[in-house]
Amino acid sequence: MKNKIKNSIPYFSVLFLFVLALACKKDYNYEPPKPPQAGQTNTLEASPTLIAPKDVNHSYWNTANYYKVVAENMSTGTLYTDGWLNMTGTFDGLSDFNEGNNPNLVLKAAYDQENLYILAEWRDTTVNLSQGSWLFFGPSDPKKGDNADNWTSQRNADHIAFAFDVDGNASGAAGTFASVGCQASCHGTGPSANMQPLAGKVDIWDWNMATSVPMNYVHDKISTASGFSDDAGTPVAVRNAKILSDPSRSGPAYESDSSNQYYTNPFGQKVLLNKAFYILNKTDMVGNAADGRAIFEDPDKCFSCHGAGGTGGSDDLPVNGIAQNKKSRLALMTRMDNVPDMTPYWSPLSASQKDDVIAYLRGLSGVPGYYLQVPSGSCSDITTMSNITPINIDNAMDEDKNRHGTYKVLIIRKLKTNNADDVQFDLTKSREYKFGVALMDNDGKNHIGSKVITLTFK
Ligand code: HEC
Repeated sequence: MKNKIKNSIPYFSVLFLFVLALACKKDYNYEPPKPPQAGQTNTLEASPTLIAPKDVNHSYWNTANYYKVVAENMSTGTLYTDGWLNMTGTFDGLSDFNEGNNPNLVLKAAYDQENLYILAEWRDTTVNLSQGSWLFFGPSDPKKGDNADNWTSQRNADHIAFAFDVDGNASGAAGTFASVGCQASCHGTGPSANMQPLAGKVDIWDWNMATSVPMNYVHDKISTASGFSDDAGTPVAVRNAKILSDPSRSGPAYESDSSNQYYTNPFGQKVLLNKAFYILNKTDMVGNAADGRAIFEDPDKCFSCHGAGGTGGSDDLPVNGIAQNKKSRLALMTRMDNVPDMTPYWSPLSASQKDDVIAYLRGLSGVPGYYLQVPSGSCSDITTMSNITPINIDNAMDEDKNRHGTYKVLIIRKLKTNNADDVQFDLTKSREYKFGVALMDNDGKNHIGSKVITLTFK
């Protein structure tokens, strides 16, 4: 008996090993459940999340569902009023936007207890980050007959903009917002062609590379039958014009002062704003550019070395680059005081003549068209993060230097702001909201996009 057991040990052992092997084999084949895969959806789905995805590169977005926007022409062939020149880079819509290449706009969304998060990605291979910059005797606009003498407003920015129906009753000539989206409210005929609905209120979120993104905000605006304006509170940008009732030709009121433009954004990050494009710490723009021009363009003076309009001349010494704005007035003066070749031309000038010459030099580089400020009230409801750091871009006028690839933009807004000029995402009342989305490339009027999409809170 003892022997029998002893003899059967190998048998049991083999059986045991066999079963173990089976079990192991099974274990080996076992595949844990896959993390959810990003899938394409028919509406923009916002999924609930506990971890706030407050960054464009947050891992949350890797597995989030996405909505592909089929962009169409929304507003084309529009020009600005007198004095605003070369600002319509999306004039012909799809064939102009991103040099005619599909922007492939993709949207993702999420929400937590407090906020809605929208991630937008699209292709636009040149960054445009100025808007209505002041140029003195700048280029004329091939699309317009405007005289380009003296100060004109030029250059434009890239935007993405969203439109929501505030009270669910916005409508225009083409129908209700619920049925035809922005087309009803913003792009009908007659009075509503003016970005205005005939009835109701449309909440406009305008992400603007020149006037909101540097401060990590999105313009929060409202459009009604009586007008299109900023929400209540302090807006993030103000037109930098000497005479606000003459915003396109009166010339700049301010330039950056000599301090570094440090700013702590709403995410608590300390950023340095590039003076070539942005004015935050401002000082009065002094000097008369016309008088400065008379001195500079005298064939025996500055012109003789720097060429007409400071474009470089035969010595290839350009002084019209936008990066000249990085230097404060004092720094520019000190620099000119210290170029020995220039002494016979620069030193004899009086203090006010030097200011005149600098006003003209600013007009060659292009003075930022807006100054920035920290927004407050209903104007400050929407914040943003993106993959662009304008601090690294020195010359957005130089196509080789401002090339990138894809915009990645995160937009964050409270679900409920309780401000009368905002759409409220009250999930106890509705889980579906209609919206429109617009893209602009170097433009602020003409745009492509989609007139009506549904945002669904899962
Ligand atoms: C004789 C030739 C000559 C004349 C005339 C001249 N410059 Fe210059 N300028 C120079 C040279 C050389 C430099 C130094 C360029 C460098 O180092 O890159 C310079 C530098 C400058 C700079 C600084 C550029 C920079 O980026 O640092 C400015 C601005 C400027 N000149 C403006 C003027 C103005 C305004 C006048 C007329 C009052 C003038 N220049 C007349 C030769 C001249």
